[in-house]
Amino acid sequence: MAGVALETTALSLVLLAVATVMPALLPCSAELPRFERPAKADGSLSLLVVGDWGRKGQFNQSQVAAQMGKIGEEMDIDLVISTGDNFYDNGLKDVRDKAFEESFTNVYTAKSLQKQWYSVLGNHDYSGDVLAELSPLLQKIDSRWLCLRSFILNAEIVDFFFVDTTPFVESYWTNPENDHYDWRDVAPRETYISDLLKDLDAALEASTAPWKIVVGHHTMRSASHHGDTAELLSLLLPILKANGVDLYINGHDHCLQHISSNDSKIQYLTSGGGSMAWRGVFTPTSDKLRFFYDGQGFMSLQLTRTAADIVFYDVFGHVLHEWSASKHLHPAV
Ligand SMILES: *[C@@H]1O[C@H](CO)[C@@H](O)[C@H](O)[C@H]1NC(C)=O
Ligand SMILES: *[C@@H]1O[C@H](CO)[C@@H](O)[C@H](O)[C@H]1NC(C)=O
Repeated sequence: MAGVALETTALSLVLLAVATVMPALLPCSAELPRFERPAKADGSLSLLVVGDWGRKGQFNQSQVAAQMGKIGEEMDIDLVISTGDNFYDNGLKDVRDKAFEESFTNVYTAKSLQKQWYSVLGNHDYSGDVLAELSPLLQKIDSRWLCLRSFILNAEIVDFFFVDTTPFVESYWTNPENDHYDWRDVAPRETYISDLLKDLDAALEASTAPWKIVVGHHTMRSASHHGDTAELLSLLLPILKANGVDLYINGHDHCLQHISSNDSKIQYLTSGGGSMAWRGVFTPTSDKLRFFYDGQGFMSLQLTRTAADIVFYDVFGHVLHEWSASKHLHPAV
């Protein structure tokens, strides 16, 4: 694993060599798909974040959904973010899989949640038919659904960068054991990752929004069962730090946590408490752990140009942890 950064460099050299001979074979790195939406008229934006949820309402999924509905109403949310593992255990079988309605449409029924959802894929989604879960046909069943591998959302005061993290994890490729991963349109891993990182770096560098937020399924830092994701720390984190990213938001561990980076402004926020939780694992992590909750819940985020307010809630809608950041904007020259 330690070799991927080196491999990437070696790969670029190989591609360069190939390009001079056969340009048509050069895998093209294209711009990431981009969506736009306005902030509220007062310049703010409010949203909820939930992850690791699709269990047909079981394991408190419905209770979390009901509290999301209430908090969503109070905050007048503009959108919802899903950090992946949208459908357990093995993603969707096909575009007609009833799990889509049973775990999504029929669970998140509150009026305030009838907003656009922006979702990434988790490793459990990769165990199903990924092309079905990404299919626009699902929007005909429920128009809230928007799930792509990696994409950008510009919302005036904030740019969100959604990153497909599952292909980064090397053991899924080399040691899948009993799990199946649908790598169609992804393999080979090294090319996919190096193209993605190049596109992401360029997009982050070009971003002029006051807030830059990256969303992925896998943990960067975590004190729970899965712990840190080494591949993300070595490959993705340097790009986030170099480009002044404010927040990295993930799921994967079925808990809620807030960890602050020691040597940058990045906050690592885990919102993976959408259904089955209570893993009972706690391992201290390097970097500063501010909050850890092993049970179900979700997170809210309210942004203005100069302030970010983050709140974590449990299955009863009780506030567990709050954190705020502010930004002093330089006057335009
Ligand atoms: C549902 O939430 C309650 C309150 O946190 C908890 O006591 C209970 O164990 C949870 N149920 C499951 C199946 O996790
Ligand atoms: C971050 O700071 C804590 C507390 O000062 C320290 O224990 C930890 O080793 C540091 N972690 C890193 C990654 O530097």
